[in-house]
Amino acid sequence: MNQSPLVIGARSIDVGYFNVKFTLGRPASHGGPAPVGNFPAIAPVLRSGAARHMEGVAQPDGCVVPINGVTYFVGPGAAQRGSGTDARLVKEDYATSDRYLALLRGALWRIAGDAGDAGDAKDVVIRRLGLGLPLNTYFDAAQALRDRAVGEHVVGAGANERRVTVEQARVIVQPQGTIIHFGYTNGGKPLEGVTMVVDPGGGTLDWYLSERTTPYWERSGAYPKAMLACAYAVADRLDPGWRDQPAIVDRIDRAIREQRSSFTVQGQEIQMAEHRPAVEQVLDESIDQMLTAVGKMDDVDHLLFTGGGASVFSARLQKRYPRLKKITRMDVDPIYSNVRGFQVVAEADLASAKGW
Ligand SMILES: Nc1ncnc2c1ncn2[C@@H]1O[C@H](COP(=O)(O)OP(=O)(O)OP(=O)(O)O)[C@@H](O)[C@H]1O
Ligand SMILES: [Mg+2]
Repeated sequence: MNQSPLVIGARSIDVGYFNVKFTLGRPASHGGPAPVGNFPAIAPVLRSGAARHMEGVAQPDGCVVPINGVTYFVGPGAAQRGSGTDARLVKEDYATSDRYLALLRGALWRIAGDAGDAGDAKDVVIRRLGLGLPLNTYFDAAQALRDRAVGEHVVGAGANERRVTVEQARVIVQPQGTIIHFGYTNGGKPLEGVTMVVDPGGGTLDWYLSERTTPYWERSGAYPKAMLACAYAVADRLDPGWRDQPAIVDRIDRAIREQRSSFTVQGQEIQMAEHRPAVEQVLDESIDQMLTAVGKMDDVDHLLFTGGGASVFSARLQKRYPRLKKITRMDVDPIYSNVRGFQVVAEADLASAKGW
């Protein structure tokens, strides 16, 4: 006999170019930050069509996602299921690609796995799902993403199969998530005056200006070069094939983010000093695009940096424009600000549906 599905309230997912972030709901007892999880935004194709395993040997953590006759593997252990050449491609059709859908479904699978007392719910209904897109693809892709998210998703295989049904979804512009999350953690008060959110992620640098919650669309935008472009610039100088190897890209990325003097590949220590100008060139290109679109900055009261590249980009911006230092704020837990903001939106949608 079929059991009735487990119905859970609001959840949210942020499929980035580098990381997929998701919420696991908010403990009912308090209004603190929603618990979150993440896995890398890579979805290798399993050539055999199934995840091979061997008795008694540890399995890579994740699930298989079949889409249009192709089987992807998604989760924290995706790199171990990969071919070793699974590039994170920064393309504008990302949100409408099958790979993106595989990542989205991988997040739904994890959300379902966390739901229920035993953490093994096989059939879950999410009433409201919050999602986001960068500004450069939002107006073209939001409707299609919403349509893809709503409905039934069967994810995983065999004993790991889970069915997740999304009743309704809402897609917002990614940095709006940060503004909403900031207001939420600030006792429901948005920042006064004009706030410019700067969100350097893996694939895009997004910037978003608003006065309280009213956006300045014409001055907001996104440019498709951020942290990955920095890492690729270093890789290209050494071995362009490294672009396609997530494990090496991660090492370069970490060296850039943590300002390390070197990183190691096959026992060879590579000094960063000689490659730093290539990184700075990418940072400056993106920053210049942003500043050109924003125009005069005199009316900006707060610069709120978020996203995984926040420290790298803010350091460069301040070096070039020291006067911006006094209006700059660094977001707390920046990788998760957007997804936590999407969660707040999904919760508000759910509350209004209940007639609160
Ligand atoms: N554990 C970590 N702590 C801090 N920073 C990290 C961590 N893991 C990754 N990062 C940084 O976060 C960056 C990616 O940021 P983020 O997760 O915000 O991007 P994204 O949302 O996937 O990309 P986009 O917004 O362009 O789609 C990486 O380039 C890396 O430098
Ligand atoms: Mg992002």
